Amino acid sequence: MASLKVRPIRRLRASIRVPGDKSISHRSAMIGGLTEGELRVNGFLPSEDCLASLTAMQALGVEIDRISQTSFILKGRGGKLSPALEPIDCGNSGTTIRLLSGILAGQPGFATRLFGDESLARRPMKRIVDPLQLMGATIDCEGKDQRPPIVVHGAKLKPLNYKMPVASAQLKSCILLAGLQSEGKTCVEQPIVCRDHTERMLEYFRASISTSKNKIELYGGNRLQARDLEVPGDFSSAAFWLVAAAAMPGARVTLPNVGLNPTRTGLLNVLMRMGAQIKEHVEDAGVEPRGTLIIEEGSRLRGTTIAGDEIPNVIDELPIIAVAGALAEGTTIIKDAQELRVKESDRLAALALNLRAFGVPVEETEDGLIIQGRARLHGAKVNSLGDHRIAMAFSILALFAEGSSLIENTACIATSYPTFEKDLQEVLDADLSGRFSFRWPFGSRNKNKERASQPG
Ligand code: S3P
Repeated sequence: MASLKVRPIRRLRASIRVPGDKSISHRSAMIGGLTEGELRVNGFLPSEDCLASLTAMQALGVEIDRISQTSFILKGRGGKLSPALEPIDCGNSGTTIRLLSGILAGQPGFATRLFGDESLARRPMKRIVDPLQLMGATIDCEGKDQRPPIVVHGAKLKPLNYKMPVASAQLKSCILLAGLQSEGKTCVEQPIVCRDHTERMLEYFRASISTSKNKIELYGGNRLQARDLEVPGDFSSAAFWLVAAAAMPGARVTLPNVGLNPTRTGLLNVLMRMGAQIKEHVEDAGVEPRGTLIIEEGSRLRGTTIAGDEIPNVIDELPIIAVAGALAEGTTIIKDAQELRVKESDRLAALALNLRAFGVPVEETEDGLIIQGRARLHGAKVNSLGDHRIAMAFSILALFAEGSSLIENTACIATSYPTFEKDLQEVLDADLSGRFSFRWPFGSRNKNKERASQPG
């Protein structure tokens, strides 16, 4: 089983170019495949999750010509897909199974079976099954309590007026993609605004779509026009380095070409509230804003509360926010985050378990965590539970612990950030001092000021 050995560092100076955005890469393949004409995608994330979407669209008859790992030319089928010869493997990807269900529901004349790995088989599908059935599709769920595998029977769909019961961008996108293939106006209301990549991409491909506050209106039945796409770097991958730098006194990190869509960058506000100094330079305000993030001088962070409307905006960053909380002075409270229980793992349980292994006092609540920061951290052996963001979050925490740590079960990192290990190694290699001695970065807590490390 793959694992990562991580030793503490004292110095962090780096410029890291994170790979393409996962959410936008998925959509480039799936929504791109519904357009009419040819388009080129650059900056695609060649991770297991996004490749599952790309391969699925190929299986449904979309011609895709891979030019490199991160670029391809796609010939859209003008909205008409062909039946897949075999069931489609969505791997670990909730985005693939949920968005693809919306697309397939609107393809009359054939049914498609969608399945995935053990983690995907535990993820709830009721949230998409309910609205798709209201639109006229039939979905059979083979798993217990409407879980995957699922069989989507395509139909001529009716438009829908729908109030979403959860703030989920995957659910919103599923309904919009189904609505796109119906005749008439589909209206979706989200309880809290969540990531809007689908709305932006549909508008870019000239769909008739408008958004006001929490409501989206889409007129289906029109063809999408193919246009080239540039995928920016993934803010959620940059988040790991943002937290590492923000929490390490004296650290400096530059992250060029990061997606800065405001429905994704809630972590910046959280870190600034915790006392971090972050510079955000927007360099392209196009369909998806992008730019450079710089932390010039990491510092001591203060605890904060993350709750309510802020949650959907930081949904994928909550594991690394919990790590920031462990490194901050005082208490950090995460609440209203029950969605974390149905992600790639039960992230609240995984975070509590692994934080404790490092020596962090933490209380797990039904919908969040209460973390006491700045405890003395000792190197630990922890398991990712097969969840990529848990694996990466604890690799970052290990940079701050005393002694080496072992993060086990790390192959899952390839689902979203295939070059993470290489970037981490560069950070470890650049820190020369850490090889010879380790000093607890927050001097006041360390009685022996300097102590020998046990580097791995
Ligand atoms: C995603 C939406 C989020 C997020 C996931 C990607 C998307 O899930 O956690 O990693 O691309 O739409 P939910 O919409 O289920 O919260």
